[in-house]
Amino acid sequence: MDNQICAGRIVIVTGAGRGIGRAHALAFAAAGARVVVNDVGTALDGAATTETPAQQVVAEIVAAGGEAVANGDDVADWEGARRLVRTAIDTFGGLDVLVNNAGFVRDRMLVNLGEDEWDAVVRVHLKGHFATMRHAAEYWRGESKAGRPVDARVINTSSGAGLQGSVGQGNYGAAKAGIAGLTLTAAAEFGRYGVTVNAIAPAARTRMTETVFAETMAAPEDGFDAMAPENVSPLVVWLGSTESAGVTGRMFEVEGGKVALAQGWRHGVPVDRGARWNPAELGPVVAELIEKSPAPEPVYGA
Ligand SMILES: NC(=O)c1ccc[n+]([C@@H]2O[C@H](COP(=O)([O-])OP(=O)(O)OC[C@H]3O[C@@H](n4cnc5c(N)ncnc54)[C@H](O)[C@@H]3O)[C@@H](O)[C@H]2O)c1
Repeated sequence: MDNQICAGRIVIVTGAGRGIGRAHALAFAAAGARVVVNDVGTALDGAATTETPAQQVVAEIVAAGGEAVANGDDVADWEGARRLVRTAIDTFGGLDVLVNNAGFVRDRMLVNLGEDEWDAVVRVHLKGHFATMRHAAEYWRGESKAGRPVDARVINTSSGAGLQGSVGQGNYGAAKAGIAGLTLTAAAEFGRYGVTVNAIAPAARTRMTETVFAETMAAPEDGFDAMAPENVSPLVVWLGSTESAGVTGRMFEVEGGKVALAQGWRHGVPVDRGARWNPAELGPVVAELIEKSPAPEPVYGA
């Protein structure tokens, strides 16, 4: 097995100072990649701190003999996202892989959810994915137009909260569902430049989940620690390698030793009246549609 499947590849991982992003950065470096470790160092709710987790991860990579550089920009800031992409190009000479992972949560029932809590969470996840992708895509389009080969990857981070829904996470779930949709459009648009775009819905024990899932996620005293964030990274490293060419527009579920392909929204079989429906006719039609369709997945926490 070739463990250096990303040898020489230039990789940005956002929110890579902690948790799952940190595991991705270390795993890419171990697979031979040169890594831009981005993290603005927020608290779990997005509040500013004086912490510099990106620098610590860079130090770990360098100590292990790898190559990495820190970037402290806010991914959802337009100029910050541009600087992040420039950091890869200016430091290592290009960009092959963008892993969008940064974000935070402000959980609350919708009935109590404040405008600022909505805006901050949708901004960091959804705009934080778009802004980095937009600047990276502009670079890749330029390379492609100049006749230089592009074999690039975007790996986005969604969540079961977006794919199935999650009680108390309306803001976060909406942003994560948005990321699933954005991934489909980006995959369709960027293919012409030599760029694939996929997403993951991970589950792991980090500060984001340790209070909610403390018991189910606790590390065992011995044996395989299925909830370790490091378990999410091997698939992301593979997706970042040139081996994953041709895989695009997909949503992978990753947890412990499990990888799966999520089945997204699909067109349903229509009942076609051939003319406009009268609202009073639709009761039995909807009942029949529901009877013939699979039941929706349960919403987390419902
Ligand atoms: N842990 C899970 O089980 C789980 C499940 C589904 C999805 N996710 C997603 O995985 C990703 C990583 O989450 P985690 O559990 O490792 O959380 P985490 O809090 O441990 O790590 C997130 C990192 O992002 C950084 N960050 C926050 N805002 C930023 C910004 N604007 N710019 C740059 N960096 C910023 C934080 O400082 C933090 O270090 C998130 O997108 C999260 O929504 C996690």
